[in-house]
Amino acid sequence: MERISRDKGYAILAAAALAAVAFMWAPRAGAQDDQYPDITEYARECARKIAPVPSFDCTKGTEIPITVNQQPPHSYQPHMNCDRPSLLNMGTTDGNCVPYSRVVVLRDDDVAQIVALCREKKIRDAKTVLYDEIDITSHNVRTGSTCWFQAEILGVLDPARGLNGKKVPSPEDPAAKNFWIEPVVVSKGKCGYCHDSDPFMYSPFIAQTGQLPADPFGKYVNDIGAPFREWQQPSAISTRGNTCVGCHRIGNLMTCKQTVRQAVGEPSPGSDEWAKKYPNSHWMPPGNSLTQKQWDQIYGESVKAILACCANPKAPECNVTPIHDAQPQK
Ligand code: HEC
Ligand code: HEC
Repeated sequence: MERISRDKGYAILAAAALAAVAFMWAPRAGAQDDQYPDITEYARECARKIAPVPSFDCTKGTEIPITVNQQPPHSYQPHMNCDRPSLLNMGTTDGNCVPYSRVVVLRDDDVAQIVALCREKKIRDAKTVLYDEIDITSHNVRTGSTCWFQAEILGVLDPARGLNGKKVPSPEDPAAKNFWIEPVVVSKGKCGYCHDSDPFMYSPFIAQTGQLPADPFGKYVNDIGAPFREWQQPSAISTRGNTCVGCHRIGNLMTCKQTVRQAVGEPSPGSDEWAKKYPNSHWMPPGNSLTQKQWDQIYGESVKAILACCANPKAPECNVTPIHDAQPQK
């Protein structure tokens, strides 16, 4: 008796498991009708609508320096502080001041801008060819369409293990399916939440390379691939005569939530004493050489106004413009 009921229990469990599997498979079944493109399909659509992403070599890219008090340190330590830490919260890694990340600009012209960031999250040797994460942003300057690619070491990070940055395959290459992460999974990284003012995130860390493409007022829309179309699309926040929006938009997502504050004095994780000291603490506008008094006079009220609108965008003095409506500047 007892055994029968247990078997019945198993049968019910098995049916439930089947139903769950069928349910989980349903969206995958849509892959054929382009609901959830696989990486090769996605990369091909991005190539058609933006430009092909070629294979490349991270080690040929420009190294992002790590300095302490403007000097390369004698040695690198996990969780050390530095002058220009990465703004990305690096979680269970060696922190925000890990050396030897590299930027590779694959294309930057009036048709397409494609940039790759080969990130080190663990401290490795200067000659390393291994990386923990490789990200690509590919942007059509004319239409605004933007694609996102990511490869990442999953699980416990280990300096001896990593992605081979010498030979990064094109995401269109069917043989690269195991290198690049499936778009539906990449989309969960919400790239567009932080990259909300325009496709490219500026930070003092990456700005050191002098390599970052910029399209500050151009069209920008995440309209390729169903999982990316589902993202919250950003708006630009501004107020009349605001001195912070003369060179670029201020996005209403992460830029509002955090990046604006970090740009005007709030220390980000990994900041050393140099980074916390004015004018280095106020990295907007870039190359700020004003006295603190002048800075406050020119930007103080504007920053306050922006932050107030970030908190309460419905206030009458706030202009909130969906970014996908932007006209290309040419
Ligand atoms: C939590 C915020 C955040 C998220 C989410 C995010 N990024 Fe970024 N990204 C940054 C920051 C900040 C930089 C600038 C470099 C730095 O300071 O580390 C950056 C830089 C980059 C760069 C180098 C070019 C540039 O724009 O500076 C690429 C490429 C990139 N990210 C791709 C991606 C992709 C692909 C995803 C989604 C899988 C993603 N990012 C998600 C914050 C983010
Ligand atoms: C003289 C031009 C200039 C002024 C004025 C200026 N910025 Fe910037 N800012 C830049 C440039 C250039 C970038 C990088 C451009 C890009 O990514 O499109 C940038 C990027 C940023 C970013 C990074 C966000 C992102 O998505 O890349 C923030 C935050 C920011 N600025 C805030 C401010 C604030 C706040 C003010 C006012 C205190 C300000 N900026 C004034 C030139 C300026």
